[in-house]
Amino acid sequence: MLYDRVLRPLLFSLPAEKAHNLTMAQLKALQGHALGRALLRNWAGPISPQPVQAMGLTFAHPVGLAAGLDKNAEAVRGFFALGFSHVEVGTLTPRPQPGNPLPRLFRLPSDQAIINRMGFNNHGAESAAARLAERDPAWGIVGGNVGKNKDTPNDRAEEDYIRAMQALAGKVDYYTVNISSPNTPGLRDLQHEAALKTLLDSVATENKRTQPIPLAVKMAPDLTKDEVQNMARIAATCGFQGIIATNTTIDRGGLRTSAEAVTAMGAGGLSGRPLAQRSTRVIEWVREAVGDHLAVIGVGGVFTAQDVLDKRNAGADLVQVYTGFVYQGPGMVGQLQTAWKND
Ligand SMILES: Cc1cc2nc3c(=O)[nH]c(=O)nc-3n(C[C@H](O)[C@H](O)[C@H](O)COP(=O)(O)O)c2cc1C
Repeated sequence: MLYDRVLRPLLFSLPAEKAHNLTMAQLKALQGHALGRALLRNWAGPISPQPVQAMGLTFAHPVGLAAGLDKNAEAVRGFFALGFSHVEVGTLTPRPQPGNPLPRLFRLPSDQAIINRMGFNNHGAESAAARLAERDPAWGIVGGNVGKNKDTPNDRAEEDYIRAMQALAGKVDYYTVNISSPNTPGLRDLQHEAALKTLLDSVATENKRTQPIPLAVKMAPDLTKDEVQNMARIAATCGFQGIIATNTTIDRGGLRTSAEAVTAMGAGGLSGRPLAQRSTRVIEWVREAVGDHLAVIGVGGVFTAQDVLDKRNAGADLVQVYTGFVYQGPGMVGQLQTAWKND
């Protein structure tokens, strides 16, 4: 109610990235005090325990926050107070980088969608790790989503992934290897067979060197069935535990927003409702390829209880949300969680 009637209209009256920064500033302020956290918990509503085992970890329930909203691990405590069972921070690169020039974030309200070309703007993995050092045992699961810096060539990409992992070691419960953002030139080429094997093998070897934690790889939705299934099998062979399906799409088909407005927004990844079916199909393909050998985290256009059930029926063990949270606000976590349970 408060979000629908007051906060969303207010936030949506601001340019998208300003609204994002304002929301993060509010969450950071609220999470610092017991009263603020109680307010957030109250706002989110009741969350009932509904443990899910996935990737060898126990999640309090199936609904988590997707990567990209809290890139720098600044409001993790606040997001847990809002009821998420897990928060995936990042994408974090080894060195800080500013990302693409503004504007780089656009809303498409008639499609309940977002287009972004943020370009891995982040403070660097070490700075996020320092924030996560204050971790509270009451928190849920924290995922560390890692990527490469824009100026690192693909043939040296693995060094970046490994450096980012090393910085986050001991601070996160699983790593996600992000090779599916459309906003770092050439990044998605790492999804191709030879490059993928080399990268995932190096990451798995590094992970084994110290205290191993579960590994997931995040896929683009713009791959063919063969490509998806090949990727999933390679991830399983390299010893990964999970697939995150999916990142944003570069496709612009079937939108209600005028073609002119969409063209004016320019390049970037599209997320939200228009992505839902496409990402659900990728979940099905992954499940068909790897059976129960890998956990699948379904992400893309989750807004309603039905969306959650669609992902679950396609084979997802967990779901994550980003765009749905922007459009629907904090009450959604409890609603989605209940759907999983009650069906
Ligand atoms: C503004 C924005 C920034 C994002 N940044 C990242 C990122 O840094 N790393 C990543 O793996 N995914 C990123 N994503 C993708 C989301 O994690 C998610 O996979 C995608 O948006 C689909 O889910 P949704 O429809 O619920 O938003 C970003 C999405 C948005 C909208």
